[in-house]
Amino acid sequence: MKQYTVAILGATGAVGTQMIQCLEEQNFPVGELRLLASARSAGKKVAFAGGEVTIQEARPEAFAGCDIVLGAVEDDLARELLPKAVEAGAIVVDNSHAFRLDPDVPLVVPEINGEDVAWHHGIISNPNCATIIGLVPTWPLHKIAGVTRMVVSTYQAASGAGAPGMADLEAEIAAMGKGEPLPAPRTFAAQLASNLIPQIGGFDPEGYTSEEMKLQNEGRKIMHLPELRVNCTCVRVPVLRSHSESITLEFERDITLDEARAALEAAPGVKLVDDRAAASAHDRFPMPIDTSDQDLIWVGRLRRDISNPHAARGITFWCCGDQIRKGAATNAVQIAKLLTE
Ligand SMILES: NC(=O)c1ccc[n+]([C@@H]2O[C@H](COP(=O)([O-])OP(=O)(O)OC[C@H]3O[C@@H](n4cnc5c(N)ncnc54)[C@H](OP(=O)(O)O)[C@@H]3O)[C@@H](O)[C@H]2O)c1
Repeated sequence: MKQYTVAILGATGAVGTQMIQCLEEQNFPVGELRLLASARSAGKKVAFAGGEVTIQEARPEAFAGCDIVLGAVEDDLARELLPKAVEAGAIVVDNSHAFRLDPDVPLVVPEINGEDVAWHHGIISNPNCATIIGLVPTWPLHKIAGVTRMVVSTYQAASGAGAPGMADLEAEIAAMGKGEPLPAPRTFAAQLASNLIPQIGGFDPEGYTSEEMKLQNEGRKIMHLPELRVNCTCVRVPVLRSHSESITLEFERDITLDEARAALEAAPGVKLVDDRAAASAHDRFPMPIDTSDQDLIWVGRLRRDISNPHAARGITFWCCGDQIRKGAATNAVQIAKLLTE
């Protein structure tokens, strides 16, 4: 079996660290692993496959001889460095927003449009985390009845803002526990502990945030539905890990709840947790505390949209998924595996 030289750009961050674990879990055929980060991290050692890999400073020379580069850095750095990886002959799977809407770049969720990897020109983008988590359960319902409109509210974990976001929430919770004054917010616009922040990204002239528009624009590209109508509100919540979403779908054809339930039960990447009679809340519906550090999108609270005048064409549900895993690292390694097949 061919072994691949794989580099992770941003290997010390929330997503990069998870990618290292996902490569091992998904038995990715790694011949050599190169871990790249800032000069601050160079020289640190990280365990991988029973050995140790030393972090190198990310420079274009580090891509020489790489087959696959997994990108896990912010947009500016991705734009600067990843084209150099392509020039060096690697195929890039990138987690940043930098290339997602470029018409030459496939935007892929393997459960939905894995076949799109075939037309890449060196870069394949991994979608926004809330987009992946919302679309994985929407897709099997779309295949039955044709989704035309989505109304979504997201409840996004602190770690969606990377390792610093997680550290900030932990520091706030620790200070509250000790009765000390809270540290000044660094990653978020305001204190997050005991609070909700209804802004992720900058506002556009209509009043939507950049994160909210990703669900529409990326969703259209991934599902090949250029007319899909999406209205989204994104909220940062004081949860360490795992995003949650309330989703209402409108369809062009009738769909029964039984059909929807059966489609979700059979869908790859989805776990249905929807038992109103269950004794424990953990078995009644998905909660982020239960969906952290695993790869499936859990779906529950499946019901009719009673506000839809065509009752048979509206469905509402709730879903939760680990955005560092399926929303980022797991999805990226799944894409890389498609490239090896
Ligand atoms: N967190 C999520 O849930 C999530 C989900 C989906 C997509 N994403 C996207 O994935 C990307 C990474 O996010 P993250 O959450 O993992 O961020 P993060 O935890 O803040 O990690 C950032 C990484 O970038 C590296 N870096 C920073 N400056 C650098 C430089 N000058 N040269 C080389 N490396 C540098 C850091 O290395 P040092 O440790 O050395 O500073 C670190 O490895 C972002 O584009 C983000 O939007 C994140």
